[in-house]
Amino acid sequence: MSEKRYLTFALGKGRLANQTLALFEKIGITCEEMKDPRTRKLIFVNEDLKLRFFLAKGPDVPTYVEYGAADIGIVGEDTILEEARNIYEVLDLGFGRCRMCICGPKDAAELLRHQELIRVATKYPRIAKNYFYDKKHQTVEIIKLNGSIELAPIVGLSEVICDIVETGKTLHENGLEVLEEVCPLSARMVVNQVSMKMEYERITELIARLKNALLEEKA
Ligand code: PRP
Repeated sequence: MSEKRYLTFALGKGRLANQTLALFEKIGITCEEMKDPRTRKLIFVNEDLKLRFFLAKGPDVPTYVEYGAADIGIVGEDTILEEARNIYEVLDLGFGRCRMCICGPKDAAELLRHQELIRVATKYPRIAKNYFYDKKHQTVEIIKLNGSIELAPIVGLSEVICDIVETGKTLHENGLEVLEEVCPLSARMVVNQVSMKMEYERITELIARLKNALLEEKA
């Protein structure tokens, strides 16, 4: 019988990666060397299980998975929607829950209601465009930013923002509020389309075990 090949996982850096590793531990998948906060290594191997893990910037995870450089990715639904890659989304991991919202100062609600030509600052231009153009049929000007999106309405770059709200603390501390909700979000597992066929048994078994672990967590 031929030697098992490595299954490679791309994990979005940060909180999601830590929660993913904690969930994997519950089903007996560990990667000790990845836990060392001082490490500068980029790729981590579990020889026994023939698994490899690497950390990547969130928006790059769907890219690695689409091209098959990773078989499996763990990333936020926001990134999946924004990147719109040809990948399979196979499992809602339940953590990393937050909401994509249109936010701004209270009085911007009037501008939204009257379908005015407003400016929307966002890290997610595709999500914002789909929401305003396809769902609300409202013409807006979308301005792409790379972070600290809440600044935009405060300094007059835009009337509203399209951004992630988790606790609402950032909005609150900056005098902004949720004006409309675009969609709920959470961490998802995505799979390369060819890997899904070639490694069907290993991947579906992994999905089933993760589902069970998630159900046990809830019980
Ligand atoms: C995200 C998001 C908000 C904040 C929301 O930013 O863009 O700014 O978290 O969280 P809260 O509702 O709990 O306050 P992130 O920390 O990812 O940094 P960014 O500014 O680089 O987008």
